[in-house]
Amino acid sequence: MLAVAVLAAGKGTRMKSNLPKVLQPLAGATLVERVLASARNLRPERRLLIVGHQAERVEQQLSAVGGLEFVLQQPQNGTGHAVQQLLDPLANFEGELLVLNGDVPLLRAETIDQLVSTHRSSGAQVTLLTARLDDPTGYGRVFADEQGAVSSIIEHRDCSEEQRRNNLTNAGIYCFNWTALAEVLPKLSTDNDQGELYLTDTVAMLTKAMHVEVADPDEVNGINNRQQLAQCETMLQERLRHHWMAEGVTFVDPASCTLSEGCQFGRDVVIEPQTHLRGRCQIGDESRLGPGSLIEDAELGRGVTVVMSVVREATVGDGVCIGPFAHLRPAAVIGNNCRIGNFVEVKKSTVGEASKVNHLSYIGDAELGASVNVGAGTITANYDGVNKHRTVIGDGSKTGANSVLVAPIQLGKKVTVAAGSTLTKNVPDGALALGRAKQLIKENWAGPA
Ligand code: UD1
Ligand code: CA
Repeated sequence: MLAVAVLAAGKGTRMKSNLPKVLQPLAGATLVERVLASARNLRPERRLLIVGHQAERVEQQLSAVGGLEFVLQQPQNGTGHAVQQLLDPLANFEGELLVLNGDVPLLRAETIDQLVSTHRSSGAQVTLLTARLDDPTGYGRVFADEQGAVSSIIEHRDCSEEQRRNNLTNAGIYCFNWTALAEVLPKLSTDNDQGELYLTDTVAMLTKAMHVEVADPDEVNGINNRQQLAQCETMLQERLRHHWMAEGVTFVDPASCTLSEGCQFGRDVVIEPQTHLRGRCQIGDESRLGPGSLIEDAELGRGVTVVMSVVREATVGDGVCIGPFAHLRPAAVIGNNCRIGNFVEVKKSTVGEASKVNHLSYIGDAELGASVNVGAGTITANYDGVNKHRTVIGDGSKTGANSVLVAPIQLGKKVTVAAGSTLTKNVPDGALALGRAKQLIKENWAGPA
């Protein structure tokens, strides 16, 4: 039997943030979500989250994650005090307790698996993850012998100068025999520089403690401040890009692009410089994104190009060209082989196959058929100041430059709208609609030549 507990009650004072530390985002997922994900392979019997600072906010953020038990730690009197809160909920539990610090988000699931299996074969009462760091400042130091047996952990601030030279650090990830831990937890004292109860002090109280050193010290980066947050973001971005390069995505200038965990790419996608993908994105084969684009929660088909544009919560078919300088907003649905050109904004509208909206248009709350040609500067006037209204344009219709379609309005199929028209009435199939002042000529206006 295995229980996993994540320590997520701390305030994160050093972040200087209104957000509890464990809710800070990193490449599209919060720290605590990432920590929970690192234990996913183990299929634990119980998953407990120790919350305290802004507990409701943390609970709310994680409400979609099933099977979590929230345990309240109030006040937050250290990591040992946090784990003491489990004595009650785990009173009848027998087995291992895996404790994860909520601010160590880069751990790989394989590393956690290895920690648990080493613990099971060594017969220790606790096995913890360690790393040798070039700069161990701030981390607890682990004192261990050649065989990996740990005698104690001393926090940086409690170490002597000599002890600080030991660069074997505590990652904050432990596998305990719960019954043995439950016996020593009540004996913790606040005899340290911070006057807190330290979970790390249990190590010296248990009969056999072992450590497993991680191969890649970057995995155990803890986040205590914004500098460390930025470093972890850089590392995660690198991991994501490497993953997708291995799956057949080209990055022209990798370091200038960012991705989120929820991105999926087909083959031969090319990502040009300064292009950012956020949220959940699905990008089809042979699409070319960027330079200079932002794509968020969008689904793009095969062979789509996006140049210097913003695409948000939109669905785009195959072979569509977007930009430069286009803006697809939520619920824009663009059919195959369309063109959405410069300075065009599309919101909550369907654009049928092979239609073109090439220049300077606003298309909102509209339904365009197939092969519609929207002239430069055409605007759907969808808002009367109180309500939004729909515009419908049938297959094969053309709007002239600078037309205003005042919604609600329906244009049939193969309609032609004369340039400069303001239309307020429906137009039947095949008709020409003119809605502009007649041109007047006043000769010799400027006087004799
Ligand atoms: C801790 C370890 C240190 C280790 C480092 C690794 C202790 C005493 N020290 O130090 O040895 O090198 O992590 O990153 O454990 N938390 C609570 N309740 C509390 C206090 C903290 O839930 O009362 C949570 C925090 O939200 C955080 C985690 O525990 O997720 C670690 O707390 P933090 O204060 O960051 O500990 P460190 O000083 O980094
Ligand atoms: Ca920390």
